[in-house]
Amino acid sequence: MSRLAKSLSYVGLIVALGFVIDGHAEEAGHYGYGQDATAEQIAGWDIDIRPDGMGLPPGGATPEDGEMLYEDKCASCHGSFGEGVGRYPVLSGGEGTLTEARPEKTVGSFWPYASTLWDYIHRAMPFTAPESLTDEEVYATTAYVLYLNDLIEYDFELTQENLADVEMPNKDGFFFDDRPDVKAKRCMKNCKKPGSIKITSEPEISEDADSGTVETVVVEQPTEGQAVYQHACSVCHAAGVGEAPIPGDSAAWSARLALGRDALIESALNGKGIMPAKGGQSQLSDAAVTSAVDYIISLSAKQ
Ligand code: HEC
Ligand code: HEC
Repeated sequence: MSRLAKSLSYVGLIVALGFVIDGHAEEAGHYGYGQDATAEQIAGWDIDIRPDGMGLPPGGATPEDGEMLYEDKCASCHGSFGEGVGRYPVLSGGEGTLTEARPEKTVGSFWPYASTLWDYIHRAMPFTAPESLTDEEVYATTAYVLYLNDLIEYDFELTQENLADVEMPNKDGFFFDDRPDVKAKRCMKNCKKPGSIKITSEPEISEDADSGTVETVVVEQPTEGQAVYQHACSVCHAAGVGEAPIPGDSAAWSARLALGRDALIESALNGKGIMPAKGGQSQLSDAAVTSAVDYIISLSAKQ
């Protein structure tokens, strides 16, 4: 290629590029990539059905219409009565089990809206051929699954107009998370260093948490006596093993308290009856055992 031809072709390339860029440069904020989605393409993605029925196509069907279809396309996995085959999802029953340790969540026991059933079957079922059903078939299988849950009659025609009116038993079972921590304010400035935050047994929420100036941490450390008691003494004393007097039980402690603190410390250090010296924890210092005795006294004298 001659030098001239070469430079001309560069020029051509530049002009061509310039043209492409120009072609898209009209719309501010666009970079000239991709293409606008067509209405058809958008319709292919925009298939969600709202709880109020918005998005449903025209049409309708009865459970009767859906029975054979369900048997044919769904029962192999979900069972003829929605009972679930093997480990495939159960679609019916389970009412009243949501508060049990093993709730059975089905369309009837758990789902809040019938619209979701239409939406789900339409977009995802049959499992091996999603989006293969016609709208009429989706109405028919949706109706049949509702029928299996005793939510509509066998001859009820489920339609675009009335689908949203089907009352699902668990419709009031969903609510905004009302646990206290979801109300915590996010800190955006002057926040505490994560490492400086201690876990407290009783968290306090400050009004002014995001100013970063208010220390809200309340640390409830167990006292030494309480800690020693937990480790070395509670094994017998908490439950009264071998007649060990239970702290706080005034009948068991009144006579012992009358002996005086020194005598009680003496017993704990050296043992008494079946209680071994230091409760069997000879590695404990006398001071540690004394602190545990004081802790026990504090609980028992209160009563
Ligand atoms: C090859 C097995 C198979 C077939 C056939 C099948 N499904 Fe499913 N179905 C599944 C599986 C697996 C899931 C769970 C999918 C998941 O959780 O991602 C499911 C989930 C569902 C759910 C949601 C259950 C829930 O509570 O989460 C419904 C409703 C449902 N299928 C309806 C149908 C209908 C109606 C048909 C027939 C048109 C059908 N399925 C055909 C396997 C199947
Ligand atoms: C193996 C069980 C056991 C353990 C462990 C134990 N105790 Fe006791 N404790 C007893 C029994 C039983 C008695 C009642 C003894 C008696 O009056 O015969 C007792 C009594 C006492 C008394 C009253 C003593 C008195 O003179 O009436 C004190 C105080 C006491 N324990 C403190 C402790 C402390 C502190 C610890 C932990 C360091 C501890 N115990 C660990 C079983 C235990």
